[in-house]
Amino acid sequence: MLTGKKVLLGVTGGIAAFKAASLCSKLVQQGAEVRVIMTESATRFVTELTLQALSKHPVYTDTFDEKNPQVIAHIDLADWADLVLIAPATANIIAKMAVGLGDDMLSTTLLATEAKIMLAPAMNVHMYTHPTVTRNLAELAARGVLMIEPGSGQLACGYTGKGRMEEPENIVAAVEAYFARRERAAQRPLTSRKVVVTAGGTIERLDPVRYITNDSSGKMGFAIAKAALDLGAEVTLVMGRTDAAPPIYREGLSLVRVESAQDMYEAVQGLWADTDILVKAAAVADYRPKQAAERKIKKSGDSMTLELVKNIDILEALGRNKTKQFLIGFAAETDHLEEHAMDKLRRKNCDLLVANDVTAEGAGFGTDTNIVHVYDANGLVLSIPRAPKEEIGLAILELVAARLTGESK
Ligand code: PMT
Repeated sequence: MLTGKKVLLGVTGGIAAFKAASLCSKLVQQGAEVRVIMTESATRFVTELTLQALSKHPVYTDTFDEKNPQVIAHIDLADWADLVLIAPATANIIAKMAVGLGDDMLSTTLLATEAKIMLAPAMNVHMYTHPTVTRNLAELAARGVLMIEPGSGQLACGYTGKGRMEEPENIVAAVEAYFARRERAAQRPLTSRKVVVTAGGTIERLDPVRYITNDSSGKMGFAIAKAALDLGAEVTLVMGRTDAAPPIYREGLSLVRVESAQDMYEAVQGLWADTDILVKAAAVADYRPKQAAERKIKKSGDSMTLELVKNIDILEALGRNKTKQFLIGFAAETDHLEEHAMDKLRRKNCDLLVANDVTAEGAGFGTDTNIVHVYDANGLVLSIPRAPKEEIGLAILELVAARLTGESK
């Protein structure tokens, strides 16, 4: 599975460093070329000689110990890697990465690399839940660093809880999945497909200066649009009110700006006959003020009653008129995720429904990451733990591509 893949393994100083030997061995057995960088403290837990013997290459620990005068080691390794895997990743290396410190061989290499970085954190449960560590992990996830979440159980420090590094075979599986995903994306499986993505919140006017809206930043929809472009599709992004910057223009991308749910419906309806895939990531207002005043409403009296009327449910309306289209709805939920998701999937005739618990940390409105569960008519098909919205967008569209090409997934 990993033949020819260049994996730079960073080992940092925690008790889980002993598992790095087994991890290195398993990566090599799967055909990967592995180079190892150890921090000074990692060498207290496992020897350089062990990892040198397993990787069959010298191990790097000291930035100034240049083994080849032709190159500068940390730049050379940074450029060489297809993937940088840090396992175990201590709270210290996570903090250094978050702030951009480069004070040893590993941290300088991490600053210099353009390769994807994957972390397998390992630490005491209280360290893992410390607000600074949580913030740093969120910052890294937002930058696209992939996480292999630690497991729960008995920790070496005597505590029980979350913080145990994932087992080496599962880390190897995550590495294989990453490369498999990259290869599938390189085949551009959505080439010639027309994808419409809705993003952001709608605006329902009360008067010329006031409106009802919601917290959608547009990030989820933008990530999906970008993923669709990466997979070769022609994309129309229908965007309401957003806080984030939309994807920068590239060939194959059209932007349509709308304001209200009605505007969004008209835009999507106009594209519908020519749409192959519609992803409704936008947060659409269910109701609008019965009357939008033409002039600014003047203050009068101690209270004011606002009468709202129902908006069209765009997804439901289009679901009733499906011909060839593959329809993906979203569900922003605060409770009974699966029950509500399955109800929306059936009621709105979606092919897939992506549910997110918008009360979970790192998920939902405004965040750079999300946590999603994807359902089809038979139930749950894919669960994605906290990951950058861009990764989630890619995973969802790969699932769609597999469904459209008849690959079972
Ligand atoms: O934009 P971000 O800040 O990145 O946040 C992402 C998100 C939380 C907005 C996104 O992940 C999400 O959950 N989008 C759907 C939000 C929503 O409106 O959920 P809902 O459960 O109310 O609606 C279900 C589905 O019906 C959605 O696909 C929605 O677009 C659609 N709908 C809803 C009402 C309506 N009148 N017309 C619709 O088409």
